[in-house]
Amino acid sequence: VTTRHYKFNIQMSKVTRLCHTKSMVTVNGKFPGPRIMAREGDRLLIEVVNHVPNNISIHWHGIRQLRSGWADGPAYVTQCPIQTGQSYLYNFTVDGQRGTLWWHAHISWLRSTVYGPLIILPKKGVLYPFTKPYKEVPIIFGEWFNGDPEAIISQALQTGGGPNVSDSYTINGLPGPLYNCSAKALNLTQLCFYLTDTFKLNVKPGKIYLLRLINAALNDELFFSIANHSLTVVEADAIYIKPFETETILITPGQTTNVLLKTKSKIPNANFLMAARPYVTGQGTFDNSTVAGILEYSKSPKKLPLFKPSLPALNDTAYATNFTNKIRSLATVQYPANVPLKVDKRFFFTIGLGTSPCDQQNGTCQGPNGTRFSATVNNISFVQPNTALLQSHYSGQSNGIYSPDFPISPLKWFNYTGSPPNNTMVNNGTKLVVLPFNTSAEVIMQDTSILGAESHPLHLHGFNFFVVGQGFGNYDPNKDPKKFNLVDPIERNTIGVPSGGWIAIRFLADNPGVWFMHCHLEVHTSWGLKMAWLVLDGKLPNQKLLPPPKDLPKC
Ligand code: C2O
Repeated sequence: VTTRHYKFNIQMSKVTRLCHTKSMVTVNGKFPGPRIMAREGDRLLIEVVNHVPNNISIHWHGIRQLRSGWADGPAYVTQCPIQTGQSYLYNFTVDGQRGTLWWHAHISWLRSTVYGPLIILPKKGVLYPFTKPYKEVPIIFGEWFNGDPEAIISQALQTGGGPNVSDSYTINGLPGPLYNCSAKALNLTQLCFYLTDTFKLNVKPGKIYLLRLINAALNDELFFSIANHSLTVVEADAIYIKPFETETILITPGQTTNVLLKTKSKIPNANFLMAARPYVTGQGTFDNSTVAGILEYSKSPKKLPLFKPSLPALNDTAYATNFTNKIRSLATVQYPANVPLKVDKRFFFTIGLGTSPCDQQNGTCQGPNGTRFSATVNNISFVQPNTALLQSHYSGQSNGIYSPDFPISPLKWFNYTGSPPNNTMVNNGTKLVVLPFNTSAEVIMQDTSILGAESHPLHLHGFNFFVVGQGFGNYDPNKDPKKFNLVDPIERNTIGVPSGGWIAIRFLADNPGVWFMHCHLEVHTSWGLKMAWLVLDGKLPNQKLLPPPKDLPKC
């Protein structure tokens, strides 16, 4: 086993974007953070040292953490945060996985500046199931706030409303050419070049590039396209898929997508914009601006015409659905889709918004009728404990920390996508679903129209799941399962529950530990759209969670 060592110094650094300089939390002074590279089967040792006033923890998004749940990272779920002046060694093996993943801070809104790519190459000598690319390029989408995102969210939570939108999306940390310091934001039709802040991809003609796309944005699903070039999608969430060609991809926060870009056979007399902008289904707060980078074939000093991509409309659900439906597992002998065919336990989760009583002390609440916004799974808004769930489970001291009674279905039936019930108040609690080792689980996630239907990118830690079905309206337990795809469904770790619709996922609970599941829109996570699974140890020695490391942080 090859061991790879990394050191993450969490430090304050001055960064300038959009003409604003601010001191912000970074890893090793970099924004975005450093790239982690490994091969399937490698052991990663990442020492995280906290030099900032904030508490920190890091999550390795999409890494299964087989039996090594202590290294998963969500604060107050698998570990207490790393406090100022302290350090923690994340120690895990990348077992049976390869592809594009990423890492990010997993505490309050620090992931807005603390994130980076995590790229796992196949084992030595193992080829990709597609043409060998000439070059590989990570492209990570994010958001830039001129202000301090931590202050923005705490202000929003105090008033019970939505946070301010970010000031720009970014590509590899850069906000793009659609902005200049004197004229402020520009749009695609009045292009003006201030290229210092723009991501540029310089390519050679007649080659194939592998773009590793990662959506690290806080609150928006994104459409992405490159003018006059089509993209071949080959991988999603580090799982090979049946390749298909498209002009535009959709990527939700938390997801990763690999595409092949075939460059023109001769150097063209033009440059090409690549652009991303959101797919928006709710009515909440969002940034509807576009971020762009430039695909250039030569660094010629003369001004070349610039072609612009056309992106679907902000609310183009038909495009989004059609795109999602095309993603299918490779399902070959070498890369099988091991969908659980029998189901031991079925769950029906309503996913959506709701309201909570206002705490008048903090000023006017911004939810409907003077309430504050909340978000729930089965009408339960998750309350963060003051110690880590996995630690309290392991030490047998879970009393008063969590209860193992998360409901398997909503407590009250209602017409989920019809008119919402009169009472939109949510319940609060720290509840877990307990699953015996190797339980095969099926979960239907049903979006509700409470305070408006909206697409929610749900992310599960510790597992990949198979998306066996999806549809609009209310899930019908008599009809819909007949249409489930058990042959080549996509296997992934983050999936958009469609606005006003449902998805069905299956996974095998073969990884003991406490595993977080939440909406990857940060504002919804903050409002409580999260819950956790507790998977018990199996009987055999290799079915048990490893003991906690000695340096595991304390609360
Ligand atoms: Cu990428 Cu729990 O998150």
